[in-house]
Amino acid sequence: MSPHYFYRNESNQGLSRREFLESEWSRNVASRQILIDCLVKKYVGPDSAVLDFGCGPGFLAAAASKYAKSVIACDISDGVLACASILNSAPNLRYVRVGQQGAIDLPAESIDVVYSFAVIQHVDDAVFTSILAELHRLAKPDAVVICHIVLQGAANWKLEAEWKSDMSLKGRAKLRLGLNCFARVAEDATRLITRAGFSAPDISKASCLGIQDDIEGQHLFLFRKPRK
Ligand SMILES: C[S@@+](CC[C@H](N)C(=O)[O-])C[C@H]1O[C@@H](n2cnc3c(N)ncnc32)[C@H](O)[C@@H]1O
Repeated sequence: MSPHYFYRNESNQGLSRREFLESEWSRNVASRQILIDCLVKKYVGPDSAVLDFGCGPGFLAAAASKYAKSVIACDISDGVLACASILNSAPNLRYVRVGQQGAIDLPAESIDVVYSFAVIQHVDDAVFTSILAELHRLAKPDAVVICHIVLQGAANWKLEAEWKSDMSLKGRAKLRLGLNCFARVAEDATRLITRAGFSAPDISKASCLGIQDDIEGQHLFLFRKPRK
C-alpha cells in the first residue's frame, strides 16, 4: 500500500485498520486530484500524451488520465509500480519501469506534457542530469515539463553538498542507505535544465492548492523543449 502515503496521525487516531486505510485512500485521491487540476490540467488537452515521471502509487496518473489521451506513468521501483497498477488503473494509463541508466522504453519525441512531483528531491545532480537528458529525448518540440524542485531555504532541507560533507558515521549511513532529500539552489537547477537543451525555466510557488500536502508552498520549474 506504499506506506509512506498512508500516514497515521492525530486525525485518524482510534480508527480501525480498515477505516484508516479508507480515510488515507480518500485523502490521497483528493490531494493528488487537486495537484493535477491546479498545476497540470491547463497544459493537457484531449490529444495529449502525458508522462508522469516518478509516479509512485499512481494517484496523480489516475487524476491526469481523465484529461489526456494517454498517460505513461514511470517509476524506478517495481514494488511501487505493482501497487500503482492495482490501486490506480485506467484504460488510457500505462505503467512503465524506468530501466538501467534511467532509460524509458518509449519512442523519441512522443510526449506532449511531462510532470514530476516529489521525485527530483530524492536524486542527486548526476541522476537529475540523466533524467533531464531522457526527458529531452522523449519530449516533442514545444512539449512542456512541470517539475517540482525543493529549493534551498525550505525548513529542514539540506543541499546535496551539505549531505555529502557530513562525514560522521550517521551522516554517511544516511546518505548511502537512507531516503535522500536534497534541496537545490535555483540557479544550479536552472543550469542543469538549460544544459539539457530545455528553455530557461519559469519558477513559481505551488500555492494555489489550499490543501496541506507535501507540495504546497514549494517550487515548480516549468520549461519547454524548444521548437526546431
Ligand atoms: C515521494 S514519491 C512521489 C510519487 C508521486 N510522484 C506523487 O507525488 O504522488 C517518489 C517516487 O519517485 C520514484 N523515484 C525515485 N528516484 C527515481 C528515478 N531515478 N527514476 C524514476 N523514479 C524514481 C520513487 O520510486 C517514488 O515512487
